[in-house]
Amino acid sequence: MERIFNLNQHQLPTRWYNVLADLDRPLDPPLDPRTQEPLSPEALTALFAKTCVEQEVSTDRFIDIPPAVQDIYQLWRPTPVYRAVNLERALDTPAHIYYKYEGASPTGSHKTNTAVAQAYYNKIEGTKRLTTETGAGQWGSALSFACQALGIDLTVFMVKVSYEQKPYRKAMIELYGAEITPSPSQRTHAGRAVLAEDPDSPGSLGIAISEAIEEAMATGAKYSLGSVLNHVLLHQTVIGQEALAQMDLAGEYPDAVVGCVGGGSNFGGLMLPILYDSRNRGRQVEFIAAEPTACPTMTKGEVRYDFGDEAELTPLLRMHTLGHKFVPPPIHAGGLRYHGMAPIITRLVEDGVVQPVAFDQLEVFNDAVMFARAEGIIPAPETAHAVHAAVELARDCARRDEKKVILIGFSGHGHFDMSAYTAYLSGQLVSTR
Ligand SMILES: Cc1ncc(COP(=O)(O)O)c(C=O)c1O
Repeated sequence: MERIFNLNQHQLPTRWYNVLADLDRPLDPPLDPRTQEPLSPEALTALFAKTCVEQEVSTDRFIDIPPAVQDIYQLWRPTPVYRAVNLERALDTPAHIYYKYEGASPTGSHKTNTAVAQAYYNKIEGTKRLTTETGAGQWGSALSFACQALGIDLTVFMVKVSYEQKPYRKAMIELYGAEITPSPSQRTHAGRAVLAEDPDSPGSLGIAISEAIEEAMATGAKYSLGSVLNHVLLHQTVIGQEALAQMDLAGEYPDAVVGCVGGGSNFGGLMLPILYDSRNRGRQVEFIAAEPTACPTMTKGEVRYDFGDEAELTPLLRMHTLGHKFVPPPIHAGGLRYHGMAPIITRLVEDGVVQPVAFDQLEVFNDAVMFARAEGIIPAPETAHAVHAAVELARDCARRDEKKVILIGFSGHGHFDMSAYTAYLSGQLVSTR
């Protein structure tokens, strides 16, 4: 049975797909927190590369990927799609399970897809230094790789609990030449304010974003965000375009697409091109977005305007939110510990296109270990949420004797997350219900 579906390098997509061209009604604009009025795109260029801001509001359906970005993508893209035959056998399910493996990137996750694009636009616009935050360290290492490739300096604020759980992510970020600080830190007003209230704060993505933005504003650097914003989801759409071509090679079409959701970028990157394609073909696809019960942004959050960061430095975005002061418990899926959501994903949840589900980390790790034992590849704790959602679907197919084609967005491998697996194997991993 064929298990690996590879594309040739010349089949690398040359355009990103922009869902803003196909939404029934436009997204609600970001607001200026002082005036509550829509923020002009120009106001964002103080922080972000101008081209990224243009892409944030563009309604062109396709946007060309610059040749220099394609050239770097070719270090690892197209990534493989695998059929998880051993997992199907272990589950004794009639479902066919496929996964799109973004762990094949140099730093081990999908984050490099937007990191390279953002570093490139900053480079050609003359940026010398970027700042950013990172949760589990996947985004920080992806951006440090991209900045190294394009010759830009980088400062990373890494959420403290992950900094302590994943020392080799720190080493990797430094290896690529970036500077890294655990967050909250004494380096910014935002960090000092959090530490004054709680010297033992584990940190959160919301706090680390505040620190990175404050540092950029104070030093004249630009800032780069690894999820949530429209242009970030846009850059990730190489995943879904490739996956469609690979499912075609397999002679199947997905009935269900599942992904994990922190800020929504890997899931959006996979599902948006498939949503567009399935509508054009008149096909029904279930889109399932998995998040942790410890940070239940879509399943328990409200939809309203909120800040993207703890210290209220960002514009207001209309999105699912648990409140920008929410500090999630220190679960191992650090990349899913975010209070907010991509406005694009929020809209699709509101419209009933995307079904959100939340899982406890203990049940997630049970199935991640099962996956690793069957397929050999160890999922990142974030990715493990998508794996668990797919395994639940496949179990359901077994109960109903239903053959569904399930496609998993496998956002990254867990080689730097072994402390989480050590905790699981020694019975120390706690339930987060
Ligand atoms: C491997 C992996 N998957 C998923 C995520 C969640 O982010 P997003 O929802 O933007 O894909 C992260 C974030 O750090 C990650 O590292």
